[in-house]
Amino acid sequence: MADLILTDVSPIGPVLIMGAGSIGCYLGGRLALAGHDVHFVGRPRVLDQLRTNGLTITEPDGKTATVPADMLSLHEDVPSGLGISLVLMCVKSSATPKAATSLARALPIGTLVMCMQNGLHNAEVARSVAARLRFLSAMVPYNVAEIGPGNFLRGSGGNLALEEDEVTNAWLPTLAAAGLPASTHKDIRAVQWGKLLLNLNNPVNALSGLPLRDELLDPDLRATTAALIEEGLSVLAAARQRTAKVTPVPTSWLPRLMRLPTPVFKILAAKMLKIDPRARSSMADDLALGRRTEIGELCGEVVKLAKSVGKRAPRNEKMLGMIRYVELTALAVGSPERGPTDAAELRKNIETAI
Ligand SMILES: NC(=O)c1ccc[n+]([C@@H]2O[C@H](COP(=O)([O-])OP(=O)(O)OC[C@H]3O[C@@H](n4cnc5c(N)ncnc54)[C@H](OP(=O)(O)O)[C@@H]3O)[C@@H](O)[C@H]2O)c1
Repeated sequence: MADLILTDVSPIGPVLIMGAGSIGCYLGGRLALAGHDVHFVGRPRVLDQLRTNGLTITEPDGKTATVPADMLSLHEDVPSGLGISLVLMCVKSSATPKAATSLARALPIGTLVMCMQNGLHNAEVARSVAARLRFLSAMVPYNVAEIGPGNFLRGSGGNLALEEDEVTNAWLPTLAAAGLPASTHKDIRAVQWGKLLLNLNNPVNALSGLPLRDELLDPDLRATTAALIEEGLSVLAAARQRTAKVTPVPTSWLPRLMRLPTPVFKILAAKMLKIDPRARSSMADDLALGRRTEIGELCGEVVKLAKSVGKRAPRNEKMLGMIRYVELTALAVGSPERGPTDAAELRKNIETAI
């Protein structure tokens, strides 16, 4: 396990991370390790951990690198007057309006903000409350989880996808040099839908109580995700919405692949299973902490799209209801220890939803 070293190049202006959580700390950490001036805006509970421990990035191959605490620029509010050249918006979707408003109050007109979140509409929502900034969409393909105080693990691979624009094209070499390879896409909506279909596994993972890899090795849980994706694909086809390929296999093959017996799945989906055994979905973290999830931005979007073409998406409706129920229970009675959902029962519930 070789420790990476901080380099001292700073070819671009300062970068601001809006929302120092899993994704924000990973992306910001990589940029800081490449010598960029990175400012993190986050909650006191996260910033305190970073002040105590520094920010450690762990890569899938086990390599770690730490930005020492005294080299981190940490803020509870968006700082002004720093000449920020790029903002990476890394809050959960429900926090986008407030975060965008805070950015607009502090940053100059036209500042570029890339929305690195899951979901389809963060850039539009942000624009609607903060039209003076320039919001573009992006997609993060990999999983990041906090595996220790201030230690963020990238659990899987892939390249960042950015909405094509002359500014985002100009950022590609800088991002690649920081270990954040990225490509630009004209039809970012198709990329977002591709990722959304994959993320239909997130509620299954969150209810299972298992790390992602273990969950994917359970045939009933895989079949549950397959049922959600299959329905998503048929809704997208009915709505004539294009999806981009975001995995080594076309998304349309996923339901069949996931329904294969586990020994065959293990061979054919070897790349998909290259996930750190500790990785989990961020929805699992949300449910564990009694926080609002992004289920509306996942299953909710499939349900909405189905309605828009006069159809229904009962499996995604059912999953939306199940996660909302857990969220509401946590709100009403706090977040009690919740046992894992029975995999076979979950599969039956989703497959037979009408
Ligand atoms: N984690 C992953 O593996 C992954 C992968 C790809 C994409 N994504 C997407 O990336 C986005 C972020 O996910 P995440 O897992 O990184 O979430 P996260 O760990 O919850 O990080 C977001 C952080 O931002 C903070 N925050 C929210 N509003 C803020 C504000 N106005 N000022 C300062 N801090 C604020 C949150 O605090 P509070 O909790 O107190 O609001 C939280 O600490 C989501 O859309 C997610 O779907 C995640």
